[in-house]
Amino acid sequence: MNGKFYITTPIYYVNDVPHIGHAYTTIAADVLARYKRLKGYDVFFLTGTDEHGKKIERAAEATGETPIQLADRVVERYKALWKKLNISNNKFIRTTEEGHIKGVELLWRQIYEKGDLYPGIYEDWYCIPCESYWPEKELIEGKCPQCGRDVEKLKEESYFFRMSRYEKALLKHIEENPDFILPEFRRNEVLSFVREGLRDLSVSRVTFSWGIPVPNDPKHVIYVWFDALANYITAIGYNNKKEEFNHFWPADVHFIGKDILRFHAVYWPTFLLSAGLPLPKRIFAHGWWTVDGKKMSKSLGNIVDPGKVADEYGTDVLRYFLLREVPFGLDGDFSINALRQRLNSDLADDLGNFLQRIIGISERFLSMKTGISGPVLDIDRWLIETAERVIKDVDSAMETITFQKALLSIWELISAANKYVADTSPWLLAKKSDKERLNAVGYNYFECLRIISILLSPFMPETVEKIRSLVPFEIKGDELRWGCMRSETSVRKGEPLFKKTEERVLKIEKDKGSKESTEGLISIDEFRKIDLRIATVLEAERVKNSEKLIKLIVDTGDGKRQIVAGIGKVYEPSTLVGKQIVIVANLKPAKLMGLQSEGMLLAAGESDSLSILIPEKQQKPGTRVK
Ligand code: MSP
Repeated sequence: MNGKFYITTPIYYVNDVPHIGHAYTTIAADVLARYKRLKGYDVFFLTGTDEHGKKIERAAEATGETPIQLADRVVERYKALWKKLNISNNKFIRTTEEGHIKGVELLWRQIYEKGDLYPGIYEDWYCIPCESYWPEKELIEGKCPQCGRDVEKLKEESYFFRMSRYEKALLKHIEENPDFILPEFRRNEVLSFVREGLRDLSVSRVTFSWGIPVPNDPKHVIYVWFDALANYITAIGYNNKKEEFNHFWPADVHFIGKDILRFHAVYWPTFLLSAGLPLPKRIFAHGWWTVDGKKMSKSLGNIVDPGKVADEYGTDVLRYFLLREVPFGLDGDFSINALRQRLNSDLADDLGNFLQRIIGISERFLSMKTGISGPVLDIDRWLIETAERVIKDVDSAMETITFQKALLSIWELISAANKYVADTSPWLLAKKSDKERLNAVGYNYFECLRIISILLSPFMPETVEKIRSLVPFEIKGDELRWGCMRSETSVRKGEPLFKKTEERVLKIEKDKGSKESTEGLISIDEFRKIDLRIATVLEAERVKNSEKLIKLIVDTGDGKRQIVAGIGKVYEPSTLVGKQIVIVANLKPAKLMGLQSEGMLLAAGESDSLSILIPEKQQKPGTRVK
C-alpha cells in the first residue's frame, strides 16, 4: 500500500439539474482517484450535494415543493448521472443527512469554544445565487461581482466568525506551501485578497429556516457555506469515526471551480485553523466551460446535458474530450463539433485503428495469438524506451494534475506504436516466413496495447474493458512496465472501439477524392437556382404551444417577411433581434402550426445544439449569398 489519498469535488446545489460544468469536476476527480488506486493508494473519493440555504428554499417555493422534496428529487439526477459517467466515488454525501448535521454542530461548538464566534448585526449586499455577502466596494455596477446578478441589501442578527484572527496564519501557510493553491495564478489571486486584510465573517442567518440550527441558539441557522465546507470532514467520520477521520484527513486535494476559490482557500482554512485541524494539502481550481463561445445559461437555452452527450457519443468520449481539450485550470469552450473531431481522429483513427490493425495482423500471421517475446533489435529498443518514458511522463503529469499532458503523453505512445507497426512490416516478415521475428514484433504490439490500456484506464474505463474483452491482461499498477504481457495470449476479433461520426467536412473530402464520379453532384447553375439572401431580424417571438418554433419578422431589403424557424430549443427570441441571418428566399411558402412561413433560415446541427448561420460582417439586407 502506498499510503492514503483523499480527494473531493464540490458538493452541488440541488436547485438545478447537473450540467457539463458539474460533470467536469467530477470526471476529473474520478480520473485522479482511479489513477491513485491503480498506483496502490488507499483512496477515498467524495462527492455529494449541497442542500441547505436560501437558494434551495426559494427554488423549492418556485416548484411548489418542500426543500427536502426538491432535494430528494434532484439528488437522484446527480446519482444517475454519476453512474452513467462511471464515477467511482466512495461516498455520496448529502448535507441533509444526520451524520453531516452532527458533524457541523460539532465543528460549530469547537469554534465557539475557541472564542471565535460572537453575535452581532450584519448589514451588507447579498447575492442569493452565490449565497454570498459582498461589501459595497466589491460590487460591479451595483451587481454581484461573481455572477453579475442583482444583490439585495440584508440586515440581520448574525453570529460572526473571527476570520481576521487567522489572517497572518493563513498568509504564512500560503506563502510556505506553494502547492496549497493551484494553479499558481489562482494562488496569487488569493494572496492579494488576503493581504488586503480579512474581515470577520457572518456565519448565521435569522431570516429563513432551511438550514442547520445554531447549537443553543436555534433561531439562527448556520450559514450554508460553513455547513457545506464542513462536508469534507463530516463525510469521513469527523464526529463519530475518529480512526477513519485521522486516516484520511487532511484531504490530499479539493477539486473546485474558480468561482468558489475564496470559500475554499480563505474561509475553509480559517475555520480549520480555529478548530485546530490540519489544512487540506492542495486546492485545485479549474476553469469554466462556455458553450459555442457563450456562457451557459437557462435564458440562452444552451445548457449542455452531459448525460445526453454520453448517450449519443459514449461516456468515455465525453470523459476524454473534457480532459484532453483544455488544460485543467484554464477556461474552455465546449462544442459538439470539437468533440466529434476528437472522436474521429484521436479515438477512432489513432487508438481504435491501432487495436483493429494488430488484431488483424494476429489473425493473418499469428493464429489469433499475441506473439512470443524475442530478441530485441534497435527499433524495438526505441519503442520500449518510448513506452518507459511515457509511463514516467504520465506519472509526473498526474502528480501535477495536468490531465491534458498525461493524455498527450499516452497519445505519443499510441503514435509510436502505430509507427512501429508500419516500420516492422509484418506482411513482409510473413512473406519471408520469418516466424521468430513475427512473433517478437507481435508481442511488442500487444505489449504496447497493454501499457496504453493501463495508462488509459483511469480516463476511459469502459473502453479499456472493451479492449480487455478482446485481448486479456490485467490492469495492475505494478505491471506498469515493459515485459509483463504473457506470450501467446489468445485474442478475439470485435467491433471497432469507436464509431466515427459522419461529418460534412469529411464527406466533402471523400467526395473530392473520387474525382471520376459526379453522381449526386449538382452544377453551379442548379446551385444558383437557390436564392440565398441576407436578412435582418426585426422581431422574434415564440410560437404558442411549441417549444421549437420561433416566429421571425425579417427585413429582406425589399420588404418584410415572416419566417417560422425551429430554433426555439437553443435560441431565446430576444437574443435574435438585430441579428443577420441567411434565408432561402425563393422557397414555396409553407404553413407551420397554422402560421405562414415565407422562406427558411439556414442553421447547422441537431435541434437542441444547432447554430444559425450569421455573416461574419454586417451586410445590407437582401444581399445575395453566392
Ligand atoms: N454548492 C456549492 C459548492 C459547495 S462546496 C463545499 C456550489 N455548487 S454549484 O452546483 O453551483 O457548483 C459546483 C461546481 O460546478 C463549482 O465548482 C463550479 O465552479 C462548477 N461549475 C459551474 N458551472 C461551470 C461551468 N460552466 N464550467 C465549469 N465548471 C462550472 O458552488
